[in-house]
Amino acid sequence: MDEDDGGHRQSRLFTTDDGEFDEKRARANALPVEDGEVVRVDDLEDYQTYIEGRGIYDERNRVNDLTGKEWKYATKSVIAEGYPPAIGHDLRSEHGGQKPPRLCAELIGRFSKAGDTVLDPFAGVGGTLLGASLCEHEGTGCREAIGFERTRRWVEIYETVLKRENDERAERGEPPLASQEMRHGDCAELIETLEASVDLLLTDVPYWNMDELEQTRNEAATRESSLGAFDDGEGAGRARAKDGWLADMRAKFDQFADAVTPGGYVVVFIGDMYRGGSYEFLSADLARTLEAVPSFTLKSNLVWYDPTKDLHVYGYPFSFVPSMVHQNVLVFRVGE
Ligand SMILES: C[S@@+](CC[C@H](N)C(=O)[O-])C[C@H]1O[C@@H](n2cnc3c(N)ncnc32)[C@H](O)[C@@H]1O
Repeated sequence: MDEDDGGHRQSRLFTTDDGEFDEKRARANALPVEDGEVVRVDDLEDYQTYIEGRGIYDERNRVNDLTGKEWKYATKSVIAEGYPPAIGHDLRSEHGGQKPPRLCAELIGRFSKAGDTVLDPFAGVGGTLLGASLCEHEGTGCREAIGFERTRRWVEIYETVLKRENDERAERGEPPLASQEMRHGDCAELIETLEASVDLLLTDVPYWNMDELEQTRNEAATRESSLGAFDDGEGAGRARAKDGWLADMRAKFDQFADAVTPGGYVVVFIGDMYRGGSYEFLSADLARTLEAVPSFTLKSNLVWYDPTKDLHVYGYPFSFVPSMVHQNVLVFRVGE
């Protein structure tokens, strides 16, 4: 086949009788096919490479290591995936807010490149750290990850899970997951001592503290009984507690922002809540709050929909109460 027009001839050769592209025949002849078209390898620009089975990779890609074909899938705004219990799920579930490491690996693959540094300042039992290690085994390359966690118990669980997982991998003759750096302490202090620059910050923020809300309610009730007619009301106490949470998040992300490389991403899990008869749109509140961090631009709200989540009957037959089967994932880019 002539070098110069090889690609064009390939595409003419693999058409059906009615002129349609015959992908089956093209594949059978081991020709690169992407999105139903034979890839005209000779037509690729100098910065483009065809990767067998994955599509065309463009060297100018500073966001991730995905090919065009993979990128198309990765920009979908909904991740509709249930992640079966894995990697020490039984141990990790002592922490009520743990995230599936595979979901974290998926997000890390979308928003960083091999060799990048990922920070999770609210690391819990290590969903992000395990996800970063999984990337190495799933073809996109290992990331260095650093986690901050103030509860010693969660740090210990991460370490136990990693050890047990690697013992099991050794028995199966599989390579171990890399051990990432989990630092015990308060993120507001640890961030000031961070020497690495961070390419991706992936985290799952501590929720607006319902214990604090209870405390506020109790204080309001005490005031009400001692002051007779004084009525602070549940709504006011609730708003105060939420404002306090948002102010704390704003102050912390202001600190984190300085650690992230310009052009890097900040990706934040946040679930909405239904409480006391109304919807708390926490993702919207947090998005508006963090958008005010000077270097942040809100890029997306991804929805993680878990189709395996159990449904319950709430409100029937008097009022619509949502069964929450999704979480939001806010995506910000740090200004260049
Ligand atoms: C929603 S959880 C994160 C769960 C995590 N994604 C996982 O997979 O395990 C938030 C975590 O932040 C931690 N945390 C809250 N405030 C913190 C602070 N100031 N410094 C460090 N960790 C903090 C909590 O202890 C909690 O484990």
